[in-house]
Amino acid sequence: MSGPAMDDVTMGDPRPRIKRIGVLTSGGDAPGMNAAIRATVRIALYNGLKVSGIRRGYQGLIEADIDNMELADVGDIINRGGTKLLTARSEEFMTEAGQKRALDVLRMFEIDALVVIGGDGSYKGAKRLWEMGFPTIGIPGTIDNDLAYTDLTLGFDTAVSTVVSAINNLRDTSSSHGRVSIVEVMGRHCGDIALFAGLAGGVEDILIPERKFDLDDVARKILQGRRRGKLHSIVLVAEGVGKSYEIAERLEALIHQEVRVTVLGYLQRGGTPSVTDRILGAQFGQRAVELLLENKFGRVVGIRDNKIIDQDLEAALAEPKRFDQAKYDLVELLSL
Ligand code: F6P
Repeated sequence: MSGPAMDDVTMGDPRPRIKRIGVLTSGGDAPGMNAAIRATVRIALYNGLKVSGIRRGYQGLIEADIDNMELADVGDIINRGGTKLLTARSEEFMTEAGQKRALDVLRMFEIDALVVIGGDGSYKGAKRLWEMGFPTIGIPGTIDNDLAYTDLTLGFDTAVSTVVSAINNLRDTSSSHGRVSIVEVMGRHCGDIALFAGLAGGVEDILIPERKFDLDDVARKILQGRRRGKLHSIVLVAEGVGKSYEIAERLEALIHQEVRVTVLGYLQRGGTPSVTDRILGAQFGQRAVELLLENKFGRVVGIRDNKIIDQDLEAALAEPKRFDQAKYDLVELLSL
């Protein structure tokens, strides 16, 4: 990738050159980030590295909001949503001046490498630092599951469970009133939360940015269901499709039945992390530190086919997200 050649960084020396690492979380928080922080910090310390915790992502880095981290600093966080290191979306870091300032701070605090936990925006920041010669490693943390190189990002599994639990509740009230529920879920431009929650929640339809939809088809399916005695229908709309209220109005006119909208919003980002997110956080943190000890930089960790992998950062960002058509078809098939 376009970072410095590995030999320029390691000087051909096979011994680890990293003495102190920094760790930060950036962008939208995601359940499982704390498990990843805990693993990164503890495995780094066990291997004789020093660790600096950078609060509030790249913005905190620019403002030197940094503290030393010890084993006890990551106690009692594995079960917590959010991020112990806090997070931010930094406009300033997108500027050249902000990036130079970040580099100055890293040098000032004698941090030799940075572990960035976040989504694609955070990865772009890590890529920029690597291009400027600073060693970085990325851990995927976002509920959106929108990074193509990894089957799962931290927080996605928990967020999907939160959505499914909301669907369960909505079923009760929707069937009591004989209503249709439109549920808007997060995911930015990616429909994975809607796709997975739709399959697990047994919804009637999912509207996602990856696939065009025809509201007449949605209406027809709901009407056929009603004729078969269905008391309620649930339609998931990914935020990337937008206009949930407008869709609800149009649907109401087509089916002559009450349609109510629930926007789940930030509820999906909180809550205790699932077992999957905790285990992934631990494994990602472990691999991130291993890479640093092997003097491998400008890389990201992930999981593919149930194996923990690492991949070039720039290649990971360039990879187009594949759409899981089989799951989409299955939602369609099972909701008939
Ligand atoms: O990337 C995670 C996410 O929750 C998206 O699903 C959503 O579009 C976005 O963040 C919301 O961002 P913010 O927290 O800045 O409102």
